[in-house]
Amino acid sequence: MKKVGVAILGLGVVGGGTYQILTSHREFYRRTQDVDIEVVSVLELNRDRALALGVPEEKIASNIAEVVSDPEVNIVVEVIGGVNAAREFVLAALNAGRTVVTSNKELFCKYSHELERAAKRHNAGLYFEASCVGGVPIIRTLLDGVQANEISSMIGIINGTTNYILTKMYEEGTSYEDCLKEAQRLGYAEADPTADVEGFDAAYKLSILSSLAFHTKVPFAKVFREGITGITKEDIADGRKLGYVVKLLAIGKQSDAGIEVRVHPAFVRMGHPLASVGDSFNAVFVTGDAVGDIMLYGRGAGALPTGSAIVSDIIYAATHSENKYSTFKNTAGADKDVKFVSDFESAYYMRMTVEDRPGILAKISTVFGKHGVSIVELMQKPAPAEGKVRLAIVTHTTREFSVRAAVAKINTFEDVAHVDAVLRVIS
Ligand code: HSE
Repeated sequence: MKKVGVAILGLGVVGGGTYQILTSHREFYRRTQDVDIEVVSVLELNRDRALALGVPEEKIASNIAEVVSDPEVNIVVEVIGGVNAAREFVLAALNAGRTVVTSNKELFCKYSHELERAAKRHNAGLYFEASCVGGVPIIRTLLDGVQANEISSMIGIINGTTNYILTKMYEEGTSYEDCLKEAQRLGYAEADPTADVEGFDAAYKLSILSSLAFHTKVPFAKVFREGITGITKEDIADGRKLGYVVKLLAIGKQSDAGIEVRVHPAFVRMGHPLASVGDSFNAVFVTGDAVGDIMLYGRGAGALPTGSAIVSDIIYAATHSENKYSTFKNTAGADKDVKFVSDFESAYYMRMTVEDRPGILAKISTVFGKHGVSIVELMQKPAPAEGKVRLAIVTHTTREFSVRAAVAKINTFEDVAHVDAVLRVIS
């Protein structure tokens, strides 16, 4: 039976989960995959953590050089996160001809061209299923499951922390700040939650997924990004009344006009398959020209779900003699022939505070009319301030730049009318 030695760099949450799966399932993989996968080395500065997980003392390496020069190591798992040390360690492993499995979305998003070049040069594999949507096998689906199709769109909830916060805000009617604190208490959100709540994490993942889906490099810089920190209880309550739930969406589309990639919170119509994806769960809805719509759903984070993706990559690498690389030209930037759409089409929700007197609605409608923005629904409620009202407006499908121009114009009316929130709407 083929024997494969694995080294794990970092025994944090995901590294610990990976170690646990590999050790508890060793016999199972021998029986079902005909391969004997053994963890032969770990690199973890906190030795007590490694020992507590049951790693034998002699398997704890002291530095990366020791790991990559160990002849027993065939596959190196990088789960330390961040980009600086991770990049150095992954390059060291690839340059030593070791296959690398990584969960590091930021690293892969920013440096996949460099890492893949090193992997190819040294005939090493480079696998990254765990970098996007944790345990949900979206990367293998795009590479091996729906490769018969031209993919026209992908819409996903690909960040669990923000989905947890938005679900709590919806269910409990509490503020963003309170739900963030709860997410931090439960270990979903980090002490510095910026990467999740400002949409960076989802944007890294969308850059990777859309490069695979659309077979061309979609750099991070091309992803429009807006986080959830501005979402208020009022927006959630308006959404509920109008029949929507707020989700942080990652949207990738490809059409004759070009590629459109964006991460932002949106009103999702109740009844849409993504509306019922709650708590910290993730889901991705993919549309291909032959298969039609498919949806993948599951846990996008956590020790065992992300460990599941890592171990699946290890098994793939251990059981295939040919390495599989990305299916697009993996360059640092976008191909010069590819167009990116920033003036995308969407319906919109707007919340505004306006003076409660005759003529104001007409004034606002005139601005919308001039910019080709047409209203579908309007809800009026008293505002906290005397003599003001709150308006919640939903528009027909229009263009992003038209809405931005209309909002900028309305905001010049100063205390007569002010747009407090703008969210895109998905039906
Ligand atoms: N922090 C991410 C999330 C998991 O909340 O979904 C890792 O990408």
